Amino acid sequence: MRALVTGGGQGIGAATVRRLAADGFDVAVHANRHLAEAETEAAGARSSGRDAFVLPGDLATPAGVRDVVDAITKKWDSLDVLVHNAGVYERGPFLAITDDDLLDCFRINLFAPFSLTRELVPLLRRSSSGRVVFVSSLLAFTGATAGAHYAAAKAGLLGLSRSLAKELAPGITVNVVAPGPVDTAILAGDTPARRAERQRWIPLGRIGEPSDVANAIAFLASPGAAFLTGTTVHVNGGQRSD
Ligand SMILES: NC(=O)c1ccc[n+]([C@@H]2O[C@H](COP(=O)([O-])OP(=O)(O)OC[C@H]3O[C@@H](n4cnc5c(N)ncnc54)[C@H](OP(=O)(O)O)[C@@H]3O)[C@@H](O)[C@H]2O)c1
Repeated sequence: MRALVTGGGQGIGAATVRRLAADGFDVAVHANRHLAEAETEAAGARSSGRDAFVLPGDLATPAGVRDVVDAITKKWDSLDVLVHNAGVYERGPFLAITDDDLLDCFRINLFAPFSLTRELVPLLRRSSSGRVVFVSSLLAFTGATAGAHYAAAKAGLLGLSRSLAKELAPGITVNVVAPGPVDTAILAGDTPARRAERQRWIPLGRIGEPSDVANAIAFLASPGAAFLTGTTVHVNGGQRSD
């Protein structure tokens, strides 16, 4: 079984690479800036007997999406699992968000998952059980207090996944994981007070770990999730579930 994870060099993506490799998947580890870290993840997967390699590409550009599609198509003639993890948490008050900010945010968080899926459907169709997983966000459901463009892009993934769940059935399932706050570079700028405040909102009493999200992605990639499509798995410690 073969999986491609975008943004696999760090954070949730790296945890997903590790988990899928442990579950027996060969893994294509995509990265843009963190190529050395992605190579470390691929080497870890190889050391456990998996085929694993790095796919470079700036997914905020059509050329970068093309690079990833061309590279994976040269290596593999089929793909079982496509995990759209790469994303950027853009912040800013609504009145300060320019059209360029909006486009930049949409390019990586929505356009790239859209076009990468479209280009890889032929490979996914050659799987006996194709799976697409989008990494959205709790903010797609709650709204953001300073990041309307990010929340809108991540909400766009919900409409995209529900549409593709219908259009790509029966061969390919399409689902979403929606993390709440997770301990990655995205939260690195938090002050201790801000971190404590986030934690207070979470009924299970802690910030998420990258492995919490990776576990949900691995479930959606597993045989046990064969009858799930068009749905969202919330990974937020109980903050919100609809
Ligand atoms: N952490 C949270 O609290 C949280 C909550 C909800 C949703 N999420 C979502 O979870 C996903 C993973 O985020 P994370 O928390 O693991 O943060 P992260 O450590 O900052 O990882 C972001 C990943 O996206 C990739 N990426 C960013 N811009 C890219 C570009 N232009 N082209 C290609 N790849 C690009 C990065 O690759 P390189 O570093 O190689 O460039 C990196 O691997 C994101 O979609 C994020 O929106 C995170």
